[in-house]
Parts: sequence; structure tokens; C-alpha cells
Amino acid sequence: MKFGILVSYVRFEEKKIFEALQARNIKFDKIYDNEIILDYQRDNTSYDLILDRSISHTRSLQCLKIFNDWGIKTVNNWKVANICGDKSLTTSVLVSKGIPMPHTMIAYSPESALKAIEEMDYPVVLKPAIGSWGRLISKVNDREAAEGLVEHKKTLGTYHHSSFYIQKYIDKPGRDIRVLVIGDKIATAIYRKSSHWLTNASRGATAEAFTVTSEIEELSLKAAEAVGGGILAVDILEDKDKYLVIEINYTPEFKLLHETTGVDIAGMMVDYAMEVAKK
Ligand SMILES: Nc1ncnc2c1ncn2[C@@H]1O[C@H](COP(=O)(O)OP(=O)(O)O)[C@@H](O)[C@H]1O
Ligand SMILES: [Mg+2]
Repeated sequence: MKFGILVSYVRFEEKKIFEALQARNIKFDKIYDNEIILDYQRDNTSYDLILDRSISHTRSLQCLKIFNDWGIKTVNNWKVANICGDKSLTTSVLVSKGIPMPHTMIAYSPESALKAIEEMDYPVVLKPAIGSWGRLISKVNDREAAEGLVEHKKTLGTYHHSSFYIQKYIDKPGRDIRVLVIGDKIATAIYRKSSHWLTNASRGATAEAFTVTSEIEELSLKAAEAVGGGILAVDILEDKDKYLVIEINYTPEFKLLHETTGVDIAGMMVDYAMEVAKK
């Protein structure tokens, strides 16, 4: 059995994964996405499985596609990464499978975006379809702010801002729920709490253990399955009387989850990857 781990940097998470592999006597290579050269015409790798931990969506997507086309199994696979890395694709898939999400629209010009925002009514949240860590997400409270923001996105935005992903703001209770799904099981879950409306760990949210209820378990497993399954972190908001999924992360960080719950997440990830490799 030989594992490869596609990495950008070695963070807390990757260190834990290396330790878990060593503890199981599994041979592995660290494959740095900065150094990798892939020859399309020649499968120059010999892995039973490659675990993707790259922080770059472009690199993940391109490498996973090549590995999968070479017949190498990956966690997650290319199809799952492709859907989860793009909030528009994720939303379309989840909604089509009946997973509850906040009301969400997409538009492609400042004029149509403003029309959609007004129709949805304030406050709304604008997100880059491809992005993470709460970056470049805006809460828009009124028409004046919306006008300024769409003009800025149009004039100064990169390619990723050429579509306007617009979502109803959910007045959640100062926290969201992050559920880590590994295969067909819930590994663990936490509340991420913040006085700021963005509750990303990278924005300084603190965590509290969350006891997974059967409702959250069912919703998270169904959402993960809808996008193709694997190692996935499902972000969930509490609306007044229901739970709403907002996104699914395909290379999740898990330091906060690990420190809060003490669950051996890296070990569970490696055991799951072993199962996939053997299939
Ligand atoms: N529709 C929404 N209503 C209220 N808060 C939201 C909404 N969407 C996102 N948030 C907040 O912003 C954070 C980041 O949003 P998310 O969609 O998960 O994007 P990212 O990929 O940047 O993590 C969430 O964890 C949540 O706290
Ligand atoms: Mg998120």
C-alpha cells in the first residue's frame, strides 16, 4: 500500500495525518503542489491512493482529474472537489436533491444582480462562488451598499467576481454548525461562535462541542452523499425553525474540531482512505 498526500504546506492537519499514517506503518510521499510536474502522457506515479490536502482549488481540481484519469483513486475524487469548490455547483446539486438551503440566486451583470437583490430583499449576502475562509463575502443591508458593491465587483473584481452569487441573510444565533462527515459516518461536529456574523475559524471564531442530533446527522449525511461523498465538512445555519446547509468543504481544516472534541480525526481520515484504496 502506498499513499501520496498532495499538500501546499504542512499545517497542524497534515502533521496529524502523517502521524496517523506512520502509526499504521503505511508508506507515503508528501507531494508538494508547488513542485509537482505531471506528464499527461505518462503516468509517473504509482500510488494506491492520493489524499488531497492542497489549499489551491485550481491545483486540486487539475491534479485530481489527472490522477483519476490515470486510474489512481483519490480522496476526495475529482467530481466531488469540482462540485464542492464552487458554491454555484454545490447549491444547484443540493437544491436538486432536496437539501434545505437559504434562498439563493445567481446573476451575471450588475443590473441583474441589483434586481435579484431587491427581489430577495435585504439583508443579503454576496459570496464569490469559488472561495473560502470567509474571504470577500459581504453582508449587504440596503440598496446604497448593494449599488456600491456590485459596481466595485464589476470594475475591480477578478474573474471570480464576474458572477454574483446572492443569498438571503439568515439571522442565526451568533454561531454556525460545522459537521465533519467521513464516508457514511459523522466524525464529529462543533458550534463555531463569534460576535461577528462571519463564523469562520480563520476569522477568529471560537468553538464549542456540539452533540449531533439525529436530525443533524441525517441532514449532514444526506448533503454529503448528494455531492458524491468522501471526507467533507458541512456548514449548517440555524434559522428560526429549521436547519439550512450553506456549503460543503472538500479539503477541510480540522484543528478547531480536533482541539474542541479530542476526536482522532486524522486517524479516521486515514482509515477511510485505506478503505477507499482497497475497494
Ligand atoms: N446566508 C447567510 N446568512 C448568515 N450568515 C452566513 C450566510 N452565509 C454565510 N454566512 C456566514 O459566513 C460564513 C462563511 O460563509 P460560507 O458560505 O461558509 O463561505 P466560506 O467558504 O468562505 O466559508 C459562515 O460560516 C457563516 O457564519
Ligand atoms: Mg464555510
